[in-house]
Amino acid sequence: MGKVLVTGGTGYIGSHTVVELMQTGLEPVIVDNLSNSLMEVLDGICEITGKQPLFYEVDLKDVTKLKRIFQENQFESVIHFAAYKAVGESVEKPLLYYENNLVSLINLLKLMSEFRVNSLVFSSSCTVYGQPEELPVTENAPVVKAMSPYGNTKQIAEEIITDAVQAKMIEQAVLLRYFNPIGAHPSAKIGELPLNVPNNLVPFITQTAIGLREELKIFGDDYNTPDGSCIRDYINVVDLAKAHIAAVKRMKESAIPVEVFNVGTGNGVSVFEVVNAFQRVSGQDLNYSIVGRRSGDVEKVYADTNKANELLGWKAEKSLDETILSAWEWEKYIRLKDQNY
Ligand code: NAD
Ligand code: UD1
Repeated sequence: MGKVLVTGGTGYIGSHTVVELMQTGLEPVIVDNLSNSLMEVLDGICEITGKQPLFYEVDLKDVTKLKRIFQENQFESVIHFAAYKAVGESVEKPLLYYENNLVSLINLLKLMSEFRVNSLVFSSSCTVYGQPEELPVTENAPVVKAMSPYGNTKQIAEEIITDAVQAKMIEQAVLLRYFNPIGAHPSAKIGELPLNVPNNLVPFITQTAIGLREELKIFGDDYNTPDGSCIRDYINVVDLAKAHIAAVKRMKESAIPVEVFNVGTGNGVSVFEVVNAFQRVSGQDLNYSIVGRRSGDVEKVYADTNKANELLGWKAEKSLDETILSAWEWEKYIRLKDQNY
């Protein structure tokens, strides 16, 4: 059974990917410093799969400790999620973001090269496209100047990885550009767990509905879209997790050094549509008000997913309603389970 190193594996997307890896018969090994996740996530994974994955509480910036993990395990590939991801915070503390996201990646690549671990899947973001001129956006659209240090770490990381492959330090990499991951595992045993006030739309909605926040503020209804609110491509986190399994498989079957894939649904959905879907599936009235635009927001972005559909043999399957309901079920479960979360 092949071992796959999953950095950031107790995080939101990482934990769902660990479950899918285990259910595919691969053996994930998690390394996470718990800077944005809790150890309890391992219990959720175990409840779903019946097994505890191997877990190391290690910071990827600590190359000595990371090396020990490579000495103790023979990995067939690496899926690299670990990073800081709060856009606003990255503007205030740029060096923290550059250091964490880039030193971690460089350490990982050095060790992959030293231990001959040849394939890497990297978590990139549709933020690299900024506001694309043509929609749906394809992988060939230009990468534009990043709007934040966080976004810039994704662009620089894509370049570092491409250079490392070109220099044959590792053989292959797949760069997955995620659109907007939302929802939770259908078991409601794992999900998104913002440790601070959420910046993202769906966790803010579910926290408002459960009574943790007073109201949702909708950032702008005067955009050039049918209902005036921004449009995004919301992708179910389990569907997204499955794209990583497809990427690992792809690298076993193809010899292409670096490939980039959009991971979205292909559907553009507005903020009002998300709010309405939430009210419909949960039966809850949501307090909300409309306020001014959030600075740095793009008006509309959604994916052309043809490349991932054809070459990865992967397609988003879950509906928006099903996905939003899963986020709500998770919110209810986690608040009930532990008032301290
Ligand atoms: P998350 O914060 O839930 O998970 C990231 C995990 O990495 C956390 O558990 C954190 O503790 C860990 N981590 C951070 N720095 C570390 C370090 N130096 N050493 C060890 N562990 C470290 O975030 P997520 O939503 O699961 O995102 C996963 C990846 O996907 C990130 O790279 C993120 O930038 C990217 N991404 C996320 C989104 C999104 O909307 N969630 C969108 C596009 C891209
Ligand atoms: C955010 C990040 C982006 C990241 C993406 C995917 C910012 C500026 N950008 O973008 O880098 O790649 O997530 O994770 O944070 N909204 C509200 N009220 C809220 C929260 C959000 O109206 O309280 C609106 C936003 O204006 C936006 C939509 O909901 O139109 C989605 O917001 P969000 O979940 O933050 O995702 P992105 O804006 O796509």
